[in-house]
Amino acid sequence: MSEKYCDEHDDDSGSFRKKLCSFLGVLLLLILLTIFLVWAILRPSKPRVVLQDATIYSFSLASSPAGPNYLNATIQVTVACRNSNDRIGILYQRLDVVALYKHQQITLPTALPTGYQSPNDDVVWSPFLFSVNSPMAPYLAAQLRQEQAMQMVMLQINMNGRIKWKVGAWMSGVYHLYVNCPAYIAFGSGRAGAAVGQGMKLELASKCDVDVGLGG
Ligand SMILES: *[C@@H]1O[C@H](CO)[C@@H](O)[C@H](O)[C@H]1NC(C)=O
Repeated sequence: MSEKYCDEHDDDSGSFRKKLCSFLGVLLLLILLTIFLVWAILRPSKPRVVLQDATIYSFSLASSPAGPNYLNATIQVTVACRNSNDRIGILYQRLDVVALYKHQQITLPTALPTGYQSPNDDVVWSPFLFSVNSPMAPYLAAQLRQEQAMQMVMLQINMNGRIKWKVGAWMSGVYHLYVNCPAYIAFGSGRAGAAVGQGMKLELASKCDVDVGLGG
């Protein structure tokens, strides 16, 4: 009698365990599917950045008698940045802009205002970039003088910073944002090796390369 009861009990608990297992299995599958769908729907896309304008207000390359070359320059750039996500906001924690000539940094970093950018929002920054007695390698200075003589200089405008994604109250970890904008700037009146007049403008708006990676 008691044996029968135990057997029945064992059978019952066995099928209960089986049911529990398949229930948990389905639940786990649903949870994984939900996570995958949320990820697929919300997966953040990189901000789109366009260099709209670049103006060189002053540009003076001089060599000292001892040899080294020094650059003084004042450049203003206008950069438009679009958050192309429908549901994800971007929190800019730090964003610095510099100008480079053939991979050599020629201006000091200028910090852009930090803050929150709503989904599908545009923001336009117009920072000034300065170089004061920025030393130039002789071969770079020679190339820069040549480009000045050809009335066209090719600079890179780089932005470097940290962002976080924000969905409602949820905030992601820190991502590293790296932007590279090629900037062909035409000189108004090319006078090689000397300060050149004002209002040298970017020829065309150019699209920038944007990289976003984990880690700040
Ligand atoms: C750059 O500016 C500094 C300070 O105004 C000046 O002393 C220096 O001679 C300038 N250098 C060039 C290359 O114009």
